[in-house]
Amino acid sequence: MVQFSLPKNSKIRTGKTWPKPAGAKTIRKFQIYRWSPDDGENPRVDTYFVDMDDCGPMVLDALLYIKNKVDPTLTFRRSCREGICGSCSMNIDGINTLACIYGLDEIKGDVRIYPLPHLPVVKDLVPDLTHFYAQHASIMPWLETRSNTPAKEWRQSITDRKKLDGLYECVMCACCSTSCPSYWWNSDKYLGPAALLHSYRWLIDSRDEATGERLDGLEDPFKLYRCHTIMNCAKTCPKGLNPAKAISEIKQMMVERVA
Ligand code: SF4
Ligand code: SF4
Ligand code: FES
Repeated sequence: MVQFSLPKNSKIRTGKTWPKPAGAKTIRKFQIYRWSPDDGENPRVDTYFVDMDDCGPMVLDALLYIKNKVDPTLTFRRSCREGICGSCSMNIDGINTLACIYGLDEIKGDVRIYPLPHLPVVKDLVPDLTHFYAQHASIMPWLETRSNTPAKEWRQSITDRKKLDGLYECVMCACCSTSCPSYWWNSDKYLGPAALLHSYRWLIDSRDEATGERLDGLEDPFKLYRCHTIMNCAKTCPKGLNPAKAISEIKQMMVERVA
C-alpha cells in the first residue's frame, strides 16, 4: 500500500479533543482533519473517541458514530456504504481508500483520517472534484458510433465484452489520481490514471467507432505521457484495478497507429 504523511512544515494545528464516551469498555482514538471555509482559521486535527462496542466494523461506521453521537459538524461524503458509489474516498491511515469498505481492524493504533491529498478542500474530508470530473468528461466517457443505429441493440461478442473486465468496475473515487506524483505536479495538463483508465475502457470497446478521434485527443506531451509507471495508482485502487496497465495499453495503441 502507498503511504503518505504530512510535511514537517504543515500548517495543520492540533484541534479540539472531544470527550470519551461514558461507560464505554473498548475505546478507540480517531484523529480527523477539520477545515471550514467559514472561520478563516488554518486546518486542524480534532481527536475523537469511539465506543467500539457500539460501532460497526468499517471506518465509515466510526465516522457515522462521531457525526451522529459526538460532533454533527464533521463533514464527509458517503452514499452506498458498499464500495459502489465512490463518494467516501479519503486518506485513511496514510492510504487513499474508500471508508465504507476499509476495515477498522486493518489499522493498528490510532486512526488518522484526512481528505484525499493534493486537491482543494471544500470542507473537512470533502475534496473539490470539479477538475477531476471535467477531465473525465474530456475523454468522452460514452459510446461513440458513426453507423446507423441498429433496430435492437449494439451487439458485442462474449470475448469482446470480457476485454472490459478490470475497467468498467471503476467507481470514480479519485484514490488513484490523488496518489499519483505525476498528477500531483501536473494535474492541470496530465489527465491522471482514473480518466485514462476510462479512456482505455472506451478505446477497446468493440462497439465504439471513434478510436482515431479518441487517440488524437490524447496526442499531447502531457495528457497521456506524464505517466512514468510509478504504479501508486494500482497499489492504492480500492477496487483492485490497474490504471497503469490501461495507460501502457494506450501508449501501445499510439505506437501501433503510426507503425
Ligand atoms: S503508473 Fe502512471 S498513473 Fe499510475 S501512479 Fe504512476 S505515474 Fe501515476
Ligand atoms: S481506478 Fe480505482 S482508484 Fe481509480 S478512480 Fe477507479 S476505482 Fe478509484
Ligand atoms: S459510501 Fe459508496 S463507496 Fe463508500
